[in-house]
Amino acid sequence: MTPAEKLPIVVLVSGSGSNLQAIIDAAAAGLPVEIRAVISNKPGAYGLDRGRKASIPTRVLEHTAFEDRDTYDQALVKLIDEYQPALVILAGFMRILTAGFVTHYQGRLLNIHPSLLPKYRGLHTHKRVLEAGDREHGATVHLVTEELDGGPRLLQVSVPVQENDDEDTLAARVLTQEHIIYPMVIGWFAENRLSIQNGAIALDGERMDGPKQMTFNQTTAL
Ligand code: GAR
Repeated sequence: MTPAEKLPIVVLVSGSGSNLQAIIDAAAAGLPVEIRAVISNKPGAYGLDRGRKASIPTRVLEHTAFEDRDTYDQALVKLIDEYQPALVILAGFMRILTAGFVTHYQGRLLNIHPSLLPKYRGLHTHKRVLEAGDREHGATVHLVTEELDGGPRLLQVSVPVQENDDEDTLAARVLTQEHIIYPMVIGWFAENRLSIQNGAIALDGERMDGPKQMTFNQTTAL
């Protein structure tokens, strides 16, 4: 595939960027995307190093330099749009986004959240799952709307909770599955497999009445 046929994307990170790495690796293995930039609100984010190592342009826009959320998000839109992405990927970008930002990228802003949404929106999902005694946990890729972690869910993976799990072991197990499902959904966009039919999202022309489901360590792609 020539670069012109690849879906241009921008990835936003605040931390380690292991999901970014999964996307970089998937792109190297043939996922038809061109990662045009990695942008972070944190200058020390390891995700920036991952971007540099992959020769992707990296940019930092520190939120501390802005007086409020609106002005920051406006500057962020301007920065992202320099790269003209068809899809904007939130990969551990730990900021609540304004309505203006979300509306600007409506239908082309994706997030991954470490829970089986609608359960456990917000922070500290692994801790809350352990405290509740759940036997099952997971991760969800969804489109971003104004409602925090509330946009249309596209793909979910379930992960077993083990007797002796602590937050770290559980988070690590969930993360391995995030690395499978995030590139997969990005592939759906890149291969034009998603559409809107009568206001509902369809995959390969088939209306989705909820997120597609994957099981733990599933090897067959959807
Ligand atoms: C991931 O677990 C992701 O689901 C989560 O942050 C982690 C980032 O890891 N995102 C959220 O909690 C968003 N609300 P990474 O930097 O290694 O990709």
